Amino acid sequence: MSQRKRSKGLGSSQMTDGEEDFSPSQVERYSQDQVNQKVSELVQFLLVKDQKKMPIKKADMLKSVFGKYRSCKEYKDFYSEIVNKAGRTLQEVFGLQLVEIDTKCPTYILINNLPRAEGKYPCRDKEKEKMGLLLVILSFIFMKGNSVKDSALWEFLNLLRVYPGYLEMISIPLTDPREFKFQWGPRAEKETSKKDVLNFVAKGLVALVTGGGSGLGRATVERLVQHGARVVLLDLPTSAGGQLAQELGEHCAFAPADVTSPKEVGAALAVAQKQFGRLDLAVNCAGIGIAVKTYNSKKDKVHDLEDFQRVINVNLVGTFNVIRLSAQLMSQNKPDADGHRGLLVNTASVAAFEGQVGQAAYSASKGGIVGMTLPIARDLAPLGIRVVTIAPGLFSTPLLAGLPEKVRNFLGQQVPFPSRLGDPAEYAHLVQALAENPMINGEVVRLDGALRMQP
Ligand SMILES: NC(=O)c1ccc[n+]([C@@H]2O[C@H](COP(=O)([O-])OP(=O)(O)OC[C@H]3O[C@@H](n4cnc5c(N)ncnc54)[C@H](O)[C@@H]3O)[C@@H](O)[C@H]2O)c1
Repeated sequence: MSQRKRSKGLGSSQMTDGEEDFSPSQVERYSQDQVNQKVSELVQFLLVKDQKKMPIKKADMLKSVFGKYRSCKEYKDFYSEIVNKAGRTLQEVFGLQLVEIDTKCPTYILINNLPRAEGKYPCRDKEKEKMGLLLVILSFIFMKGNSVKDSALWEFLNLLRVYPGYLEMISIPLTDPREFKFQWGPRAEKETSKKDVLNFVAKGLVALVTGGGSGLGRATVERLVQHGARVVLLDLPTSAGGQLAQELGEHCAFAPADVTSPKEVGAALAVAQKQFGRLDLAVNCAGIGIAVKTYNSKKDKVHDLEDFQRVINVNLVGTFNVIRLSAQLMSQNKPDADGHRGLLVNTASVAAFEGQVGQAAYSASKGGIVGMTLPIARDLAPLGIRVVTIAPGLFSTPLLAGLPEKVRNFLGQQVPFPSRLGDPAEYAHLVQALAENPMINGEVVRLDGALRMQP
């Protein structure tokens, strides 16, 4: 670590995950004051992480305290002292308890331990929003050394997206000068029941994403992992899936497999069961496409039957293969209060409805996925397993990235609104929304900006 960085001292407010300035030779030399600074930094780190309502990994805590030396074994005792002190500070100052929720892969959450007041006290249920916001503001003031400028506080609240959404400023009509009122936004109620959110995240959704090495599947894997899920990424051995799984770390496992192979898909599901304990969500993104006319009269060439069968086999049969085997594993899940055991998401295409010239095989395969969505949802309803199909329009994945920019722009302009190609992150966002909304089942959802393909 450079001297320049070290000269910032322990008091510098480094709340990022960046490398730190704690080297082995320095540990013994630090005074109690400096240790307390470290405790304070860890408290800051935990408070900031807690705002995202995501469990906090021990590895990240270590990194925040020791920077690049986090793996040094001799720090074990020292680290424990710092964590214990940070835990005490959190408890005493904020009423937050640092709780380890996973001992295998040490992960912590902060739980609000303030006593629940009855009656007239501000902590009662319908006032939870105020308590949530108050805690955020108090935490920020503490982090900034007990005093902050008004503007800095607003900036921080903006950064956390407290405003708007959580807190909303509404202009009062017919006032001059204009006056505003504050009211709780739709997020306020949801996000103050933080313990529930944390419990949900801590439960850790386990997902299988096929075609997870590229495009829509890749974005889905990334989003799910970012939101605390553990994911088995299924893709061909030649795909970029292995590398992505490695980058995402222990919450993602790569299972090289072909979706059309019962044995290989079975092996991928065994990874989910062995490594993560179960399966809650399977997302079918693996797919291929070809553009061949049924009969090309100019070249006097008929569509190759094997090509047709290959597309049907990967897109339709492969999807069904993953569905049937995933459903078997999901059926072993303990149902939630609603009787829900899992969700299967498939990827069709708008080509299922408006196939273009040369898309006979592709449209047939996607039409098959649309067609089987309802009967499979009906088959699996008694088990509490939902089935939903997404029919994307035009998305900016490697498939389209290879086209010249002019063509991409042209394609984007065909979309009524927003007039652009879809972002794979928007597909991933819909997968998450489907997972969170238990009422959607047996349905095909178009995700296409109102696009209707021309012949
Ligand atoms: N990108 C779009 O605009 C768009 C639009 C509509 C529908 N879709 C559908 O969305 C899905 C994903 O498309 P994308 O654009 O992300 O494609 P992509 O080519 O970027 O990714 C597809 C992935 O599937 C994998 N795959 C292919 N065959 C496989 C097999 N037999 N077994 C396992 N994995 C296999 C590939 O290795 C690749 O990683 C496809 O089903 C596609 O038809 C895409």
